[in-house]
Amino acid sequence: MIRLALLGGEPAFAATLDTYPHAFGNELEELRKVLESRFWNVSYGASATQQFEEEFAQYIGSRYAVAVNTGGMALQMSLRALAIEPGDEVLFQVNTCSADANAVMNAQATPIFVDSDPETFMLNRPSLESWLTPRSKVLMPVHMWGRSENMDMIEDVARTHNLIILEDACLAFGAEWQGVKVGRFGKLGFFSLGCLKSLQAGEGGVIVTDDKSLWKELIMLRPWGDMSAAYGVRDQRELAWNGRPSQFVCAVALAQLRSFPEHLERLNQGASRLRKLLGDVPGIMNMPADESITKEAFTQFMFKVDEDLLGCSRDAFAAALGAEGLPFIWHGAFEPINTLTLWRGDRWRTWINYHPDIDFVARNYAHVFENALHNFHHTGVTISRDILAAEPKVQEQAAETILKVCEHARELRDWQ
Ligand SMILES: Cc1ncc(COP(=O)(O)O)c(C=O)c1O
Repeated sequence: MIRLALLGGEPAFAATLDTYPHAFGNELEELRKVLESRFWNVSYGASATQQFEEEFAQYIGSRYAVAVNTGGMALQMSLRALAIEPGDEVLFQVNTCSADANAVMNAQATPIFVDSDPETFMLNRPSLESWLTPRSKVLMPVHMWGRSENMDMIEDVARTHNLIILEDACLAFGAEWQGVKVGRFGKLGFFSLGCLKSLQAGEGGVIVTDDKSLWKELIMLRPWGDMSAAYGVRDQRELAWNGRPSQFVCAVALAQLRSFPEHLERLNQGASRLRKLLGDVPGIMNMPADESITKEAFTQFMFKVDEDLLGCSRDAFAAALGAEGLPFIWHGAFEPINTLTLWRGDRWRTWINYHPDIDFVARNYAHVFENALHNFHHTGVTISRDILAAEPKVQEQAAETILKVCEHARELRDWQ
């Protein structure tokens, strides 16, 4: 008799996966060049950093790319380059990486959270419009789980309310909306090269733009605001940070970037195979297939469950998948940021003390974002992209494992 592994049966998923990230080929060669060059930090002229920036911009289709040391730093520097000041509000979905809220506060602006859409798990337009104020300055779409945000909607809201679009593309490097790569829609777009991202180099970040004056500001902000490289004067006019990446990071990122398109094809083929296999499984729903999402760039594979149809909780379902041996990512659906202690309590007030309507901010942080909460606790399941990159038989085994758990889900009705 077949039994769930969570209830003492044999695990169904036994494939050994090649875990991401891994060296694709030329990383050692690129690293050696940096080691021998003696320029280990960002230098001007020919360097791994400059080469990486040029090839990154080319891949995205933007005029400029600026490499930095993290995705969070990319956001801080972007806000400073856009002249965002204390009291200015930056709006983005509440169910994303808390790095975004941290970085906005570290740049002395105010994060304002927005609920998500029950279908796409991304920005919910009515919620977004309900939180707009005269201080709303930046609308930050976050392209989540390797998928583009609905950029038609974002551009429409931004145009109507005179907001600057700043794209967080950290979790979707290579994804496209209507054939255009994410990162290209906003005044600025930024990426992370840290863990769980499409393109990884240990740590790191990149900002892209078509605007030469913004690019010069970023080059100025990166070394603590020193104006020498960007403006040819030894002076400083902005409060800035050390945003410089190591050349070693850029060397690894360069090698990874050159192999990325091929890797991405493999992930996409694996994902469409898995989606087809899951298409008929009762209780499982694939993410909506918006025709405008012309390419996905999986950082993890997300699908949804219907607890009523399954007959057990999402938590029980996910625990059962884990027990079967399927690598899944527990926090992958992202809890609403305002449920974390810093924003749930009063601690945030220590860091946001320059906002003209602090009660409005307090209301936003105390708000119950129902869709985001529901997605996080009851609907979203994310499994590792390593399954997508593997052979077809691994996706078949993953689908069989999910089917097994679905068929026996009612036995988990009382599971805590
Ligand atoms: C959506 C999102 N934005 C921003 C960041 C921050 O990137 P980093 O960790 O490189 O600072 C991350 C990841 O950590 C992220 O997932």
